[in-house]
Amino acid sequence: MIDLHSHILPGIDDGAKTMEDSLAMARIALDNGTVVIAATPHVIEGCWLPDWSTIQNLCRELSLELRRENIALTVIPGAEVALNMDILDLIKGPGPYCINGGKYMLVELPATHIPQYTEEFFFTLQARGISPILAHPERHPQIAHNPELIVEWVNKGILMQVNGPSLVGKMGDRAMKTAETLLNSNLVHFFGSDTHGPKTRTPRLTEAQAKSVSLVGEKITRQIFTDNSSAVISSDDIIITDVQKIAVVKKHGIWKRIASMLG
Ligand SMILES: [Fe+2]
Repeated sequence: MIDLHSHILPGIDDGAKTMEDSLAMARIALDNGTVVIAATPHVIEGCWLPDWSTIQNLCRELSLELRRENIALTVIPGAEVALNMDILDLIKGPGPYCINGGKYMLVELPATHIPQYTEEFFFTLQARGISPILAHPERHPQIAHNPELIVEWVNKGILMQVNGPSLVGKMGDRAMKTAETLLNSNLVHFFGSDTHGPKTRTPRLTEAQAKSVSLVGEKITRQIFTDNSSAVISSDDIIITDVQKIAVVKKHGIWKRIASMLG
């Protein structure tokens, strides 16, 4: 498997604190079937703003340590760029802050809302030759409430990366249900672990892979856990499957209230 989302680089954000953490995370990833991991530290205006060269250098340092420790995991540079118009001053085109220095960029929304300039941000990246990948849409409250919000984005070429732990319920029931809905609707193009450490939020993707097989079968699972991510690493185009009609389970609040009054 290829893990497109991780905070495995030491001391650069809220992920791995030390090189020992990074190596422990790498061992867990490898033991669970991941062979390539993208290091995607936070890039957030006013909070964490590492130079691209710093990310690349830390990746090289980690790769050297992995070789020394005989851990056969490949680490490639990337970033998780927080959506903000000011940050576009740093991003002129493919390369810096993109996965493996290519044309795909992992982007995250603010945790609580979808800014008005979101589409402008995405389309500015596209106009500059960058393909945005939205990180963990299943965790966003507005998307969880109305998954239809992202259909138009997908139809305009914005790709979706879901967190494996969300699909198996480790990020709560809402994120799990939304991940299932997105997967069943062909709205997931990649999985990532979004690992932050060796003890909690670890880089295990095996359970999510097994659940994906049970929901959408082996062919689609292979596509979103390996084939599409492999294309990202080499900056090739990926195949977008037609979006299925979203089938969201409706809430029956009034019936629950009537039933409780009767019961
Ligand atoms: Fe992340």
